[in-house]
Amino acid sequence: MTYATLEWKAGQPFASAFQDVYFSSDNGLLETEYVFLQGNDLAQRWQQPALESFTIAETGFGTGLNFLCAAKLWLETAPEAAMLNFISAEKYPLTLADIKTALQLWSQLDTWSTPLLAQYATLIHTGTIRLYDNRVQLTLMRGDACEQLRQRHDDADAWFLDGFSPAKNPDMWQAALFEQMARLSHAGSTFATFTSAGMVRRGLMSAGFKVSKRKGFGKKREMLHGSWTEACHGN
Ligand SMILES: C[S@@+](CC[C@H](N)C(=O)[O-])C[C@H]1O[C@@H](n2cnc3c(N)ncnc32)[C@H](O)[C@@H]1O
Repeated sequence: MTYATLEWKAGQPFASAFQDVYFSSDNGLLETEYVFLQGNDLAQRWQQPALESFTIAETGFGTGLNFLCAAKLWLETAPEAAMLNFISAEKYPLTLADIKTALQLWSQLDTWSTPLLAQYATLIHTGTIRLYDNRVQLTLMRGDACEQLRQRHDDADAWFLDGFSPAKNPDMWQAALFEQMARLSHAGSTFATFTSAGMVRRGLMSAGFKVSKRKGFGKKREMLHGSWTEACHGN
């Protein structure tokens, strides 16, 4: 397995191979909450008493920050008996030492990151762990996002499209990825991403997603979010 090679810039992780950041240098945690949690309207969707389970699929697990923020919100808002199924593809996992250092930036997440770090080696080797009194199942699909998703049969309720900027990582943001997303989505499945790149917008639209723009986080002008709708499919 190839682990990520990191540099640390002002204490924040930076991917040498992609020349890109793992999260906004303004405030990664607020960025995650804004782009991925609010962008998929999760707080509202999870406050449903009848909710039994929910699946989030992510491209690019990275430092696990998106996962931790989602898990925290889930534990705070979803019914206690419900299960969050979080599946995330990662081509270049962080080493245990690096993910520990990265997550030290967020002491407010210690309650949730400590159990994750305790099981990180198991996650890397077995691919799946249960956390937080079995209320969350985390699956790490080790490898290219598109290739990994091709082998899955999940029913994704929300997508976190991370994975470095399309300009710096064009290999990931391909029509084939958007087609896999559509295959694993149902009417009402949502997505959110920090980028507003035209090829991402067009690719998602031709895969059947209704795409909207909203103000981006921090210095970013715009981001994309939306949902899969059968009516759009093939347009
Ligand atoms: C911006 S970082 C993700 C940040 C992450 N979501 C977090 O919470 O820290 C992008 C991640 O995508 C991964 N990645 C890049 N290309 C990929 C691909 N083709 N398939 C899967 N993961 C990929 C990188 O290794 C990196 O960890």
